[in-house]
Amino acid sequence: MIAKSRYLLILILLVIVPSAMAGVKETKHNFTSPTYSPNAYFWGTRQVCVFCHAVHNADQTYGPLWNHEVNGAQSYTMYSSQTMDMNQSASPHNGSLICLSCHDGTIAVNSLSNLPGPEAAGNYGTPGGPGLDVDGKLTSSSTAFVGTDLSDDHPVGITYDAGKDNDFVPKAGNPTAYPDKLLYQGLYVECTSCHNPHDNTYSDFLVESNDNSALCTRCHTK
Ligand code: HEC
Ligand code: HEC
Ligand code: HEC
Ligand code: HEC
Repeated sequence: MIAKSRYLLILILLVIVPSAMAGVKETKHNFTSPTYSPNAYFWGTRQVCVFCHAVHNADQTYGPLWNHEVNGAQSYTMYSSQTMDMNQSASPHNGSLICLSCHDGTIAVNSLSNLPGPEAAGNYGTPGGPGLDVDGKLTSSSTAFVGTDLSDDHPVGITYDAGKDNDFVPKAGNPTAYPDKLLYQGLYVECTSCHNPHDNTYSDFLVESNDNSALCTRCHTK
């Protein structure tokens, strides 16, 4: 009996351990390998984090140790509707700009501020896969393409204020861990409110399961 339960324990551990260790490299945000990125990957690349972060000479303007090219002057068509009550900025904040720098299709996915090896900006690897054009930009045929027209997407660039609308859950403090880290810098609704770029446990890189619309009702009291 003891031996059997030991086997059972080992079996359980074998099942649990890999999922506990799931990280960026097991997601579509690993652009090094056709295994995880059936649409978008880059031949000749070996590093995963470097597409978004650099350990040295990073650009702190947009995100933590940020390494992907961002065009701060890019204009976006924002969501608009008559029933919006909260303040919306004229353009998304950094918590969305860093995602859109790849997902709006205007900048190559492999355009980095600091390439591995030489200390220089440039393109890392050669584009492969059907979701990318020859320059490494996401094409509109990719399911990952969001574009610069955000008028048909959940609003971003919103300063969250439940005081302006009774249909929202009041939020206080600035939780730093998912899934409670819903507001970028504790203030704004941005892409990072709903998505965690490192973890695809709940698919679509969601910060938590959206079964029974649990994610939506963290903010909406609908
Ligand atoms: C596709 C882009 C992308 C890749 C690849 C990526 N990250 Fe990130 N990372 C981000 C974004 C975006 C943020 C900012 C998230 C936010 O502000 O909510 C971030 C934030 C972080 C942070 C600080 C905040 C936190 O979540 O702890 C750390 C640390 C980090 N990344 C480490 C890594 C490491 C290590 C790797 C590689 C194993 C990696 N990242 C790969 C996009 C990426
Ligand atoms: C360095 C470029 C880059 C950055 C930065 C980046 N992404 Fe991505 N992301 C991609 C590419 C390319 C794909 C498609 C990969 C594929 O299909 O093989 C993708 C896939 C996704 C997918 C899955 C889409 C699908 O078709 O299954 C989601 C969701 C997503 N990204 C959200 C985000 C969010 C949110 C952020 C910011 C927090 C972000 N990404 C930052 C390049 C990026
Ligand atoms: C209010 C929450 C929320 C915000 C904010 C949000 N997303 Fe999403 N996103 C989702 C959900 C939920 C899904 C899954 C929807 C589905 O499967 O149709 C999704 C799916 C996606 C996908 C997969 C393709 C698709 O259309 O289904 C991409 C890519 C994506 N989001 C990128 C972004 C980017 C980039 C931003 C910021 C500009 C963003 N998201 C902001 C909730 C959000
Ligand atoms: C991080 C908080 C947050 C999350 C999570 C969230 N929303 Fe929102 N949502 C908002 C805010 C804030 C607005 C803008 C409200 C305003 O200005 O009155 C909004 C606006 C909307 C609107 C447009 C309302 C209008 O008046 O035009 C819809 C529809 C919506 N959300 C649906 C969803 C759905 C569906 C989900 C789950 C996938 C979701 N939201 C998740 C915060 C959130």
